[in-house]
Amino acid sequence: MADSLESIPGVGPSTAKKLRDGGYVDIESLAVAPVLELMERTGIGFALAQRIIMWAREKIGWDVVSAKELYEKRSKMLRCTTGCRSLDKLLGGGIETQSLTEFIGPYAVGKTQICFTLCVTSQLPVDKGGLDGMVVYLDTEGTFSPERVHQIAEHWDLDPQRVLENIYVGRVYTSDHQMILVDHLPEHVDMSRVKLLIVDSIISHFRGEYVGRESLASRQQKLNRHLHALARLAEAYNLAVVVTNQALADPSQIYGNPNRPAGGNIMAHACTHRIWIQKGKNNTRIAKLIDSPSLPESVARFVITEKGIEDCED
Ligand SMILES: Nc1ncnc2c1ncn2[C@@H]1O[C@H](COP(=O)(O)OP(=O)(O)OP(=O)(O)O)[C@@H](O)[C@H]1O
Ligand SMILES: [Mg+2]
Repeated sequence: MADSLESIPGVGPSTAKKLRDGGYVDIESLAVAPVLELMERTGIGFALAQRIIMWAREKIGWDVVSAKELYEKRSKMLRCTTGCRSLDKLLGGGIETQSLTEFIGPYAVGKTQICFTLCVTSQLPVDKGGLDGMVVYLDTEGTFSPERVHQIAEHWDLDPQRVLENIYVGRVYTSDHQMILVDHLPEHVDMSRVKLLIVDSIISHFRGEYVGRESLASRQQKLNRHLHALARLAEAYNLAVVVTNQALADPSQIYGNPNRPAGGNIMAHACTHRIWIQKGKNNTRIAKLIDSPSLPESVARFVITEKGIEDCED
């Protein structure tokens, strides 16, 4: 966006610097900021923070809006193919921008392979099912593999070097680091070019650092803040947010699936589409949509190949 922070009434060079230092580099990031967070991160007072946010919201047409305007905003939503027709169908046509999509499942089920495939397919032109944009990949487990992305790009007939150039990778070391990276992302990358943001996995640091019942409430509070920050990026920049989540053994389940997604209600409420993945026969994978406001519950099958993920042959 062309408007600089200095164009905001009442914001001179010193306040603009405070805003930038706090991670607010454009009008979009201010429009979606909560007042208290803006105050905390910049040191500016309540009245000014409130005025700046109101101005930014008005500027980008984001106050109370009519359902028609909302419909128009949603019509800018794009969908990205997963490389697998049956999974695309399950998702209503692919991964959506302006939404959070969560892939949940046990170890080695293929969550990271889906993310790698999306790193490539999201770079396809829009008329080929892509988002024609850059990718931000936050890797919390050290499993991002440029070699594997290279291989998938080759199989999609894309220039692997260009594909790799278009992916920003952030290796994340702690939950605080994860939150800071997301909060300050607009300072480091040109968000207008980013169309996909992946966090693989969303939960591992939170689970590793907050152990025991007594720390559960503070962990969930932080996770909630983090998920809201991701949702705001998805809305402000019309990008798709994809997160992976772990499966936990649930001893209270006697019948049905003996596992449940980590992160409890906070995760359940924050993610627009939740897809549960499990292993099927003959090395196939089964994906189930478990929670969606607009799509029917259904099942898809895929296999992991050199091309990333693909439909099963039969
Ligand atoms: N080039 C490839 N061709 C076929 N299968 C592959 C290829 N690369 C990886 N796989 C398969 O992908 C699976 C691992 O998937 P992935 O790493 O995505 O799991 P995950 O769900 O992310 O697990 P975790 O919870 O441990 O992160 C393994 O079964 C592996 O055999
Ligand atoms: Mg993984």
